[in-house]
Amino acid sequence: MAATKVLVVDDDLNIQRVLVFTLKQEGFEVHVASDGQAGVEMAAAIQPDLILIDVAMPKLDGYAATQQIRAVEQGRRVPIIMLTSEADVEQRVKGLRAGADDDIVKPFHPLELIARIKALLSRSGGGAQQRKPGTEAPTLGRLCCFYGAKGGVGTTTIAINTAIALASRLKRKTALVDANLQFGDMRVFLDMGLDAPSIVNAISEADLDSDLLKKLMTTHHAGIELLLAPPNPETADIVAERQRSDPGSLSRILSLARKAYDYTMIDMAKTIDDFNLQLFDEADVIFVVMTADLSCLKNVRLVLETMDSLGYERDKIQLVLNRSNAYTGINVDNAESALGRRIDYQVINEYRGAISALNSGEPFMSSRPDGPLGQSVSKFAREIDAVLAGEAVAAR
Ligand SMILES: Nc1ncnc2c1ncn2[C@@H]1O[C@H](COP(=O)(O)OP(=O)(O)O)[C@@H](O)[C@H]1O
Ligand SMILES: [Mg+2]
Repeated sequence: MAATKVLVVDDDLNIQRVLVFTLKQEGFEVHVASDGQAGVEMAAAIQPDLILIDVAMPKLDGYAATQQIRAVEQGRRVPIIMLTSEADVEQRVKGLRAGADDDIVKPFHPLELIARIKALLSRSGGGAQQRKPGTEAPTLGRLCCFYGAKGGVGTTTIAINTAIALASRLKRKTALVDANLQFGDMRVFLDMGLDAPSIVNAISEADLDSDLLKKLMTTHHAGIELLLAPPNPETADIVAERQRSDPGSLSRILSLARKAYDYTMIDMAKTIDDFNLQLFDEADVIFVVMTADLSCLKNVRLVLETMDSLGYERDKIQLVLNRSNAYTGINVDNAESALGRRIDYQVINEYRGAISALNSGEPFMSSRPDGPLGQSVSKFAREIDAVLAGEAVAAR
């Protein structure tokens, strides 16, 4: 088998030397270009299996060179990793938009670079054969909202762990969207840094397509892909503003997510504003998460009335009782008769399991899937999958 060809495009001699050494040690065939223009020419001439390209270079910078490489490409799409000098989200997104598949911030550890190269090569079929666009299997394309009857009932916990159960146990392609625009805490729950792209980048992109959306999502090692919340409350306003002036911008994200994933799970904030109303409208199902206490029951009643007045069918709203076996003085029967409707699903209470997962940044569904809480959420995931997958197939 011929060695995998890597083209290094960088004007810095030291970086060239390090890269050539590291890549050759791994058995790659290495070619070097010292500026963007030469990089574009060599890419066409030698047809590399992968390209590493610097951002700041003479003649043609990395963005422009990547665009030119993409523009003349026919059928075969070469994986490109951009070497950036700053962990700045804007810069990263600019590179991804220009057509890069991944990026790595200098200085980087050679082992990390090699890991990224291998991951990208395996995703793209070793660089030799490439997937043709539009040949992927259709997804279930279900959109599920998780809405808490009040703060602290476990909405985020259930959204995250259900998403992981769907992905890891049921092998569904699953995305998780943190739509808590102002105070999304998925970065904390899942131990992600502040420099990963977010929903701000996705909603601001006039030409968002499935490739770019995929790149704006952060892969979590438990097998789900995340569209993170804005890194701070100020940037959250940009999202709300953009949605208000063009609701199509949010629709575009959601419909691309439906095409790419079996399940898009949305963890919502508690407010009822334009943004959330659009999410409710577009969802296939709204899981209202609650606990069995009086203030929750009161809020659930209000939510149900609101949904009624919006004209939603009853089935679109599903009640999920969290911490179902915690002693509150109100049992499931009491709660059901107070609400005049059934509780559809239950997740058990296990304080220790939930809190230790929270403090370790590792969701219980990936660290202890067979613990009591893991089993309870797995059961919930199986039950909703049976209904939603059935609906999706019937709708085809
Ligand atoms: N089933 C459960 N058993 C025990 N504790 C839970 C359970 N679900 C959530 N918790 C805990 O409740 C707290 C609030 O959860 P969180 O998911 O942040 O709620 P919300 O998103 O509704 O504000 C967290 O400390 C979490 O660990
Ligand atoms: Mg939350």
